Amino acid sequence: MADQQRSQLAARLTRPFAGLMATTYRWVDERLGVTDLVHQLLYEAVPRRGAWAYSLGSATLILIVNQIVTGMFLLWTYVPSTTEAWESLNFTERHDEFGAIVRGMHLWGAYVLFVVIGLHMVRTFVSGSYKKPRELNWIVGVVLFLMVLGLGITGAMLPWDQAAYWTATVVTHVIAYFPIFGTQLQEILRGGTQMGPATLTRFFAIHIWLLPAILVPLIGLHLALLRRHGEHGSWVNYEGVEEETEADRAHRMAHAEAPYPALPSDPGYAVPVDLDEFFPSQVFKDSVVSFGLVLLIFVMAVVVGAPLERAANPAALNYVPTPEWFFLPLDQMLVQFPQAWMIPVGVFIVPGIGTTLLILVPFLDRTPGREPWRRPEVMVPGLFVVLFLIFEAMLAVNRLFNL
Ligand code: HEM
Ligand code: HEM
Repeated sequence: MADQQRSQLAARLTRPFAGLMATTYRWVDERLGVTDLVHQLLYEAVPRRGAWAYSLGSATLILIVNQIVTGMFLLWTYVPSTTEAWESLNFTERHDEFGAIVRGMHLWGAYVLFVVIGLHMVRTFVSGSYKKPRELNWIVGVVLFLMVLGLGITGAMLPWDQAAYWTATVVTHVIAYFPIFGTQLQEILRGGTQMGPATLTRFFAIHIWLLPAILVPLIGLHLALLRRHGEHGSWVNYEGVEEETEADRAHRMAHAEAPYPALPSDPGYAVPVDLDEFFPSQVFKDSVVSFGLVLLIFVMAVVVGAPLERAANPAALNYVPTPEWFFLPLDQMLVQFPQAWMIPVGVFIVPGIGTTLLILVPFLDRTPGREPWRRPEVMVPGLFVVLFLIFEAMLAVNRLFNL
């Protein structure tokens, strides 16, 4: 059969289906407005310069989706009971290859998430993205960061091996020092005055639905605020705005594409000088970065996997618990305080002040402009905090592993 005849026949055979699909799509679209929604989500302006650095936010989002999806698969085999949690994971590790990879992806996904969310925070801090009108985006971000830390620590308790049991013991011990209602909080979390079966059930519930139920809508709010004000990007998109004439500025504002101009904003920073399309430009860069990270997680899950220590043994008092690496700076700070101050100062006062300052960053930073070198008042303390945390983590590694 000639090529032309073949394609005519194919067209005749598929026409009824193409017609049916088009009619079905129109029916659904009239009722749900899918086309409008897709257009709203994909077609908008974003800053062109420094675009790769702005892929950290979407990478954080994809990594959280990875946690939710792998978490749901884990629920198919994991049994949240002190007598069976370890057994169920031990079975997975030994006899269920797919389950072991999923478990590895959940653990390595969490590790990569901590790094990427940290970099996203550093990026938005350095570029002064928290300045007017994006103050609330930053504050929601800080709360998201705390939620993710909470998910990390509650997750670490779930395998109910030695590491998990002693993590739960230490965390619920420390909680009792919380001002005013510390003891009540401890009892609620332990499900009694002592550690027991209810402790695991409580942390399981907090991990799989309570924290995610707060996290997911907050991410929605973070993204809605992002859409409302547009991506600020970084100072490289606003070079020359201060020398700009009034007429040039008015022209830039008048010809801005949605969602710009970001109002209320300092006039110079309401519209990036150089704009690009979110789709396909930014979406392509976001996809490359996110795909690379998911691939890395998969490789780590296959090659290294997730460890499982011996089953929890409350009688093994000589066991020295080592905290998850993302809590190493806090662990180190604790041992540096005198015994009596250790928990109140090390766990509540210093981290409490640190978190409050972090939330207040948009209101404390009164510097004009967004270039980091013109904001030494915030950049120097910020750099000091990051170096301090790295230094404390190194000291902790040295202490715990005798390097
Ligand atoms: C669950 C965690 C988070 C998710 C899913 C998320 C997602 C995003 C996305 C997709 C963007 C736009 C792209 C980009 O600029 O990278 C963004 C922007 C932003 N995020 Fe996050 N983020 C999270 C956590 C945080 C944290 C911890 C902070 C800071 C404490 C933060 C502060 C900001 C700010 C200020 C912007 C605006 C950036 C700009 O306009 O230049 N976010 N976020
Ligand atoms: C940002 C979100 C999340 C983070 C950072 C996170 C983190 C973790 C971590 C670090 C562990 C310990 C892994 C190990 O040592 O083996 C864990 C365990 C677990 N997580 Fe999550 N998780 C998140 C979300 C979820 C969600 C949404 C679910 C359920 C739908 C879930 C279900 C589980 C289960 C069942 C376990 C126990 C199995 C195991 O330890 O391998 N997680 N999680």
